[in-house]
Amino acid sequence: MTLPDTTPTPRRILLIIGGGIAAYKALELIRALRKRGLAVRCVLTAAAQHFVTALSAGSLSGDTVYSDLFSLTDEAAMGHIELSRDADLLIVAPATADLMAKMANGLANDLASTVLLATDKPVLVAPAMNVRMWLHPATRRNVERLRADGASFVGPDEGDMACGEFGPGRMAEPERIAEAAVEMLRPADAKPLSGRHVIVTSGPTHEPIDPVRFIANRSSGKQGHAIAAACARLGARVTLVSGPVAIPDPSGVDVVRVETAVGMLEAVDAALPADVAVFCAAVADWRVAAQGGEKMKKDGKGPPALVLVENPDILATTAHRASGRPDLVVGFAAETEKVIAHAQDKLRRKGCDWIVANDVSTATGVMGGDSNTVHVVSAKGVESWPTMSKAAVADALARRIAAALGESTWV
Ligand SMILES: Cc1cc2nc3c(=O)[nH]c(=O)nc-3n(C[C@H](O)[C@H](O)[C@H](O)COP(=O)(O)O)c2cc1C
Repeated sequence: MTLPDTTPTPRRILLIIGGGIAAYKALELIRALRKRGLAVRCVLTAAAQHFVTALSAGSLSGDTVYSDLFSLTDEAAMGHIELSRDADLLIVAPATADLMAKMANGLANDLASTVLLATDKPVLVAPAMNVRMWLHPATRRNVERLRADGASFVGPDEGDMACGEFGPGRMAEPERIAEAAVEMLRPADAKPLSGRHVIVTSGPTHEPIDPVRFIANRSSGKQGHAIAAACARLGARVTLVSGPVAIPDPSGVDVVRVETAVGMLEAVDAALPADVAVFCAAVADWRVAAQGGEKMKKDGKGPPALVLVENPDILATTAHRASGRPDLVVGFAAETEKVIAHAQDKLRRKGCDWIVANDVSTATGVMGGDSNTVHVVSAKGVESWPTMSKAAVADALARRIAAALGESTWV
């Protein structure tokens, strides 16, 4: 008698390896994925075969490697549509500028791009390229379009590059890509933040002076939006309260758009109750006391005096709520000097649980930039994290939040 096979079928990854110098790291990625019990099948682009061999990818994955759209044998054994549908998750690593351009525009002129267009499965993209290629407006457009189409991204990281330059563009480390894959494959109700409601504020506020002028700051919203996306990826229901920004909404979060600090506090209050609140927005400290109904005009008597009044303190107000206070209240501190000392002082004054402090002095390029160096300050002490992309900071913070909610005390 044959016993029924009760061995669980491993989740299947289709790993698409693009033609970049980081392709060698894709071989490590195969091992990292298999170590986590995932079955891996590889597609190599024609360019990828200049960097790694099908023999290496096949030996490490233990499966056939595909690369030719028009191969009679491959098409008969495992057609391109079947190849994309058979996987639970597609990973593109390294995702070259070229491959992302094809994906963003729906091109399907080789096996890799055809499989990516034919799939109905989630796609995880790990870009890797020279910093100028990454920062080029065409690549920026393609990334934004892919995000809007629902692709998830891991990396790129910032650092020294094979081409001798420095900046964002290095492929995320294989272990991090494998972790992101595991998170994406986890069923929604088994994710570490599932069942939790997280409120995130992001971006600047605009405080009107008259109908056409306002007081603002340089916040781009990149860090707050990335935190919202990271919490959503971990299964949280996320309300993102965003000031005026020029970046797209992250997928899978509820976005509430506001202009002013007063509007932001109202939106946060309306979004409560929540398990966690992360106040990442750069809220203006002051607003103009008497906002003019008409555009102010030069009258030859010199500049007008702008009388300012203090805005509500959203972090302190929420942290001090007598009822309905989120279990974990996290504030951000943008400092230009004595970063940790000021953050410790802010933690005490505001009554929140953590302060994530970052140095926003002009030299660091944090405001508007893609990377961040943060210190997580709590009553327990200070954790100083290495410089990472804002997306990596967001991932680490979301995981830290999930771990803290699982502990009985986290302050
Ligand atoms: C030595 C070398 C290294 C390259 N590294 C990269 C890279 O890291 N990222 C990238 O986007 N393109 C890189 N390219 C360019 C791509 O190989 C080229 O755009 C190719 O058409 C990509 O094809 P694929 O997207 O089908 O893999 C490199 C080219 C050479 C010759």
